Amino acid sequence: MKFPSNDIISLLDERLEFNVAESTNKDLILKEIWDDEFSKALMNLKLDYGTSQGNKPLREKIGEKLKVTSNQIAITNGSAFGIFLAMLCLCEKNDEVLTVQPNFPPTMDLIESLGFKRVLVKLSFEEEYRMDIDRLFSQVTDKTKLIILVSPLNPTGTIHTKTEIVEISERLNNQYPNCKLLIDETYREATYGDNDVIPTCAGLRDNIITVSSLSKCHGTPGLRIGWLYSSDEQFIQQVGIAKMNTVISNSVLDEFVALQVLKKEDEIFKSRRIHSIAGLELTKKWVEQNKEFISWIEPKAGALCCIKLKEDKFDKDHIEAFYSSCKAMGIQIANGEWFGESRRYFRLGFGYLEIEKLSITLNKLSEVLRKE
Ligand SMILES: Cc1ncc(COP(=O)(O)O)c(C=O)c1O
Repeated sequence: MKFPSNDIISLLDERLEFNVAESTNKDLILKEIWDDEFSKALMNLKLDYGTSQGNKPLREKIGEKLKVTSNQIAITNGSAFGIFLAMLCLCEKNDEVLTVQPNFPPTMDLIESLGFKRVLVKLSFEEEYRMDIDRLFSQVTDKTKLIILVSPLNPTGTIHTKTEIVEISERLNNQYPNCKLLIDETYREATYGDNDVIPTCAGLRDNIITVSSLSKCHGTPGLRIGWLYSSDEQFIQQVGIAKMNTVISNSVLDEFVALQVLKKEDEIFKSRRIHSIAGLELTKKWVEQNKEFISWIEPKAGALCCIKLKEDKFDKDHIEAFYSSCKAMGIQIANGEWFGESRRYFRLGFGYLEIEKLSITLNKLSEVLRKE
């Protein structure tokens, strides 16, 4: 199989009632961003092809947000397609792409599917999934063309500091000038309550590329709108050409709605950050109540976290029984294998469900933990 199968596909195709596997914030409903001006413009929208780099006003709006120019932005079908296009445009046969594990599965799986050599730096729960920069560089070679880091990380919400990113970028510049550093910032704006948003890495150094999207923090994954930033405008044009050769353009309807989402972003964030902090607080309490059975890494951002089933309570059979019971009770959780971890770990998303439903789901999960 060119693309290895991964049970994460069940998140799309088999939705259970108590879904704490999802990594997004609450789904946005169109009426939240609806107004007269939008309604009128929508009725008159021409459904022609879009442009290769994407809708100009949308790129300008994203450029404003990142403090870069619109020519440094290409619109993509979510971050996922941004990562795909970056690999496709930067790498040749026999080149190496380095990324971390655990990670968003397509990022890891695409590398070999596209014919490049995959190098994975394994991060561990015990080290709070932090990455040691020297260890990272021990895996970089002259053939490494792309390093993909994720901040905040899926499934743990662990972040890289600006100082770390700058150090990696400068070391690459000095030792491996042909290698680019891609920072996947898909969860960057998904903070809690009044916490500061993590600054973007866009514009920090010329060898840095970033991708992000409207999927997680804005609650609009179904729009399939994301972006890729590079300071190199010629590279952005290349990305546009690669896009034209694969999907031609983004959907003009998606781009149109995305622009409205960004215009209403402050309100969207406000409600979702209040929701996320409530979810996080509830999850914190739940972890404390169940500390005999589980431990966790408290996330820095992103409405998700990683939970470990403790060794002294869960042997291999108990772990399997745990997942079977969850499924039988309609609880959807993301087992560690989705991300390149073992099944002892699972991801718990606390931003997707309404708080009342999240509370019911966590109570059910407590029941399952105590049963096994
Ligand atoms: C770290 C990370 N990157 C990228 C993506 C892709 O998201 P999208 O293509 O919807 O922006 C995901 C989705 O779960 C993710 O977790």
